[in-house]
Amino acid sequence: MPKYSEFLKVAVDASFKSGEILKEGFYKNFEKNLDYELKGFADPVTEYDKKSESIIVDIISSKFPSSTFLAEERGEIGNSNSSLRWIIDPLDGTVNFIHSIPYIAISIALEIEGEITVGVIYNPIIDELFTAIKEEGSFMNNKRIRVSSISDPGSALIVTGFPYKREGRVNELLKPLRVFIKDYQGFRRLGAASIDLAYVARGSFEAFYEENLKPWDTAAGKLIVEEAGGKVTDYYGNEFNIYSKSILASNGVIHNHIIEVLKDVQL
Ligand code: IPD
Ligand code: CA
Ligand code: CA
Repeated sequence: MPKYSEFLKVAVDASFKSGEILKEGFYKNFEKNLDYELKGFADPVTEYDKKSESIIVDIISSKFPSSTFLAEERGEIGNSNSSLRWIIDPLDGTVNFIHSIPYIAISIALEIEGEITVGVIYNPIIDELFTAIKEEGSFMNNKRIRVSSISDPGSALIVTGFPYKREGRVNELLKPLRVFIKDYQGFRRLGAASIDLAYVARGSFEAFYEENLKPWDTAAGKLIVEEAGGKVTDYYGNEFNIYSKSILASNGVIHNHIIEVLKDVQL
């Protein structure tokens, strides 16, 4: 099996190639709004989500032909006997993309025999690249990053996201906001779960939480947060896996404060 660093190199290369295409689409959207289809209520997909996914899958399969994929737009791809499974969000933050907000990313994770070993999150608009290899730390643009050490809610900035399927969920989604608005320094909803996680890893946010995310939203970010010294569980403090119904990622030292707030949310 190739070294993890070889997998990382190819994933970064694929994210840069797809990033060129996403950047082109992002600036075209200023001239004429891009067309999109809806996959469900408020859930858009553009030709760029699909193009980005094809580029990434093609580059990775040409280097590692036995790979299988779980990719947002095409689902499961490839022979299921392989031990290499790539988990891909080809454009995280599509709503931001179609509204010309530069908080978007490509997220690529490699799972080997059920364990996430490599993660890449790349924002091509502002050129921020987050990477991690299992047990080798996390990096932004090749510089080591670490979670923050803030444990006091009054100094903590919290980020979340809301699912596309919000019907019947509004009251539950509002519950924690009341506490974060009252007792915390600040609160954000920025629209790309992968970057929210990467920003916990680099110490910009003390914590990120969201319900009902998909494996491609969290696989790379989970590794990047953990390798930066952070903690990832579900809302109630149980071990997180990429199929969990909720995620709470934090700097570790504020984790129990956030669980205290989220424990009343009924999932
Ligand atoms: C979405 C973004 C958003 C989160 C949604 C995700 P997409 O992914 O990460 O921040 O709140 O739950 O589905 O659809 O832009 O890839
Ligand atoms: Ca996503
Ligand atoms: Ca997406």
